[in-house]
Amino acid sequence: MPCLAQLASKVVVAAAATASSLFPSCQAQDAAQDLTQFVLPKTGASNGGNTFPGISLPLGMVKFGPDLYTGSDSYSGYQPSGNFIGFSLLHESGTGGAPKYGVVSQMPVPGTIQNPLVDLSVNRSKADEARLGYYKSSLFNGITVEMGATGRAGKYVYGFPESGGAANVVVDVSHVLSSYRGQGLGQNYLGGNIAVIPTDNGIRYEGSGSYNNGWNRAPKWTVHFCGYFDQPATFKTFLGTSATGTTLSEYSDAPSRNSTSRLGAVFTFDSTSVTSRVGVSFISSKQACSNVENEIPADTTLDTLEEDVKAAWTDGVLSKITTTDTSSTANLQLLYSSLYHLLLIPTNKTGENPLWSSTEPYYDDIFTFWDTFRSHTPLLHILQPTAYEELIRSLIDIWRFEGFMPDARSSFFNGATQGGSNADNVLADAYVKGVRGAVNWEDGFAAMLADAETVPPNNNDPRDTSSSTKEGRGALPDWIERGYITTKYGRSVSRAIEYALNDFSLHQVATGLGNSTAASKYLSRSRNWRNQWNANLTALNFTGFLGPRDTTGKFLPQDPLSCGGCYWGDYYYEALPMEYSFNAHHDMATLIAYSGGRAAFVARLEAMFTPGLSSGNAQFGHTLFNPGNEPSFATPYLFNFAGRQDLSVKYARGVARSYYAPTEAGLPGNSDAGAMESWLLWNMIGLYPLTGQATFLVASPWFADLTIDLGGGRKLVITAENLGDDSFYVQSLRVNGRPWDKAWVAWDDVFANGGTMDFVLGPDPADWATGDLPPSPASEA
Ligand SMILES: *[C@@H]1O[C@H](CO)[C@@H](O)[C@H](O)[C@H]1NC(C)=O
Ligand SMILES: *[C@@H]1O[C@H](CO)[C@@H](O)[C@H](O)[C@H]1NC(C)=O
Ligand SMILES: *[C@@H]1O[C@H](CO)[C@@H](O)[C@H](O)[C@H]1NC(C)=O
Ligand SMILES: *[C@@H]1O[C@H](CO)[C@@H](O)[C@H](O)[C@H]1NC(C)=O
Ligand SMILES: *[C@@H]1O[C@H](CO)[C@@H](O)[C@H](O)[C@H]1NC(C)=O
Ligand SMILES: *[C@@H]1O[C@H](CO)[C@@H](O)[C@H](O)[C@H]1NC(C)=O
Repeated sequence: MPCLAQLASKVVVAAAATASSLFPSCQAQDAAQDLTQFVLPKTGASNGGNTFPGISLPLGMVKFGPDLYTGSDSYSGYQPSGNFIGFSLLHESGTGGAPKYGVVSQMPVPGTIQNPLVDLSVNRSKADEARLGYYKSSLFNGITVEMGATGRAGKYVYGFPESGGAANVVVDVSHVLSSYRGQGLGQNYLGGNIAVIPTDNGIRYEGSGSYNNGWNRAPKWTVHFCGYFDQPATFKTFLGTSATGTTLSEYSDAPSRNSTSRLGAVFTFDSTSVTSRVGVSFISSKQACSNVENEIPADTTLDTLEEDVKAAWTDGVLSKITTTDTSSTANLQLLYSSLYHLLLIPTNKTGENPLWSSTEPYYDDIFTFWDTFRSHTPLLHILQPTAYEELIRSLIDIWRFEGFMPDARSSFFNGATQGGSNADNVLADAYVKGVRGAVNWEDGFAAMLADAETVPPNNNDPRDTSSSTKEGRGALPDWIERGYITTKYGRSVSRAIEYALNDFSLHQVATGLGNSTAASKYLSRSRNWRNQWNANLTALNFTGFLGPRDTTGKFLPQDPLSCGGCYWGDYYYEALPMEYSFNAHHDMATLIAYSGGRAAFVARLEAMFTPGLSSGNAQFGHTLFNPGNEPSFATPYLFNFAGRQDLSVKYARGVARSYYAPTEAGLPGNSDAGAMESWLLWNMIGLYPLTGQATFLVASPWFADLTIDLGGGRKLVITAENLGDDSFYVQSLRVNGRPWDKAWVAWDDVFANGGTMDFVLGPDPADWATGDLPPSPASEA
């Protein structure tokens, strides 16, 4: 990387001067900047953000951290308060709905254990210590638990108090993260086995646990484990149906049980210092043993594990975006903590898929394309092109073996799906941006055709029994026969707008494959959102919104500022009619015309950000725009389609500054598997992607310089002259050295081969973007 401080810009030179306090010289920074210091793993872990603060490799299968009980759902295991109930190897990050995983656990307990199934939980004596690659919990009973991890194994280091009596570790195979929401989405333990095998200098246990349900109503799945302790122990296995009915027995090989009686083992040590290494696998306990033996050989220190995790993140992820502008530590913490939480899930389970054998990669824990297709997957493409291509191949392989690509997938099971079949958008985005590699695009298009033409069997989800909530497009019969979706189906309006984009995605790939019949068919279908537009609905003096139609085709009355319950059985899921009425991003010229023309469209957009305009759904905050809600993600940038790029900068930056901070409560809502963080990262970069198109809307960057490593020696270098806290409106822009007058760039301009974008910023708006508006490919000329 060239040292950007050498660029002839006053601001950059000033920033480099600030940097010298942190880094001895620009050269030294190039060589050895420790980017991991800016990763704060607890960012977004509380206040509903639900990020996972424990230890994980990028897209790593193991996520090692604490499980806490508070009486409400612990989605990532972590809670800032409550009692520890275990320390387990599998978790999700930034999800909602109901917890998944929290399995393969150990729990240290002092003293004599009469019954391991009574409440063994204990609170903290102080806040957990979390840094990249290391986690430590201090328990109120004086025990400390330090943790380290690799991709498929973890290491526990326990410190027991001198005066606490015996030192025990309980391995409870039946331990899961429970749900307390009363929606029938709690995980169940279905059975398992555990064998305890004394070794020359310690003791080993191995076995498996099976579970079902949880977030996606999954059927039974099994995880295998293999654990080593570093010293001999006495042990007893246990099996019990309730806290009082437990028996402790001394048999080394607790036979396989299909009963839901809780199963596990208690290990008792004659020492205050105990370590354990545990591997996991979805294939066999033998593979779990080889995972831990390969990845954490005996005597591997926590320091080594921490250094390895830091190196993996630094080399593979953090170094992909660099800056010499160190004027704001908070901005650097936001940048690198967001990159971290961007890449905790999905998980790369290649080689660990128990369902079929294939030469294709396997990715799981996809939460959820309905949240991530807008800004997360386009960023994954740029920053992790290898993983991205593997993910695409994996989606197509899931279709090969199961008939549908997932909209979400966890524990090897598709589901849920909320709106459209948004894997289609992910594939189209990859296709139009040139992803070819080992992707079989004929099969890719066939998988998209399944979404577009095959009605998925109804899974009779009690939340909406009208059609499948598992995969595919349940409301297809209406969409195909009528070109809109009636209230016969749950979420009819929000599905219609997403189905339109899904069909546009088919159009894009069909065009590329030279299938002109399919290309024109799906372009035409992509315009069918227009049939869901009720030109008579009004709110706030604006006329025309997406609206519900009954089974006779008649439009129903609808308040554009209310989505009712905003849930599975309602007309709109999770966002207001007014929010969804900005979502035809492939057909913006038509949308603007339907909204009353450019001036009315700008006024309508501004209303979204005007405090105090009331919504029927008060929980969505104090503006109609909801920063924590993905259907709103592009909204602040849409001014670019109406010749007002300055307003995109004003509102998008305002949202980022008001709602994001590098703190535990620093997200505007659920991280949604890194979707929120991806929105922020694009804001910092100064661009916003339109998934399924090669277009990026131009906003305004946060750093005096930013270098994005695109792989293969290609780089996008973005500079900002005259950047300041109050100086962020674009005055002029050069792209690849040439003056630029458009509020958008295309993939080929700056990403395909790299490029430069040089902004000059100022405190006041300037009318610089006088060139062509961004493309509107589904709109008739
Ligand atoms: C933890 O629990 C103990 C015993 O109930 C209590 O005395 C202590 O105040 C609690 N500590 C915290 C930090 O909540
Ligand atoms: C447990 O159930 C599975 C089928 O669900 C069966 O294949 C297996 O043999 C059963 N194991 C025992 C020990 O009953
Ligand atoms: C995913 O996992 C497989 C198996 O471990 C590995 O070969 C592959 O390189 C991984 N992919 C990435 C992007 O790291
Ligand atoms: C073109 O797409 C249609 C679906 O609209 C499909 O049935 C057909 O097989 C495709 N043709 C080719 C040559 O792939
Ligand atoms: C809108 O109102 C006009 C005038 O009452 C009526 O002719 C038209 O059918 C209505 N359109 C819709 C979509 O309800
Ligand atoms: C709607 O228009 C009326 C009349 O021009 C005006 O008084 C009112 O303030 C407007 N309402 C909103 C929400 O803009």
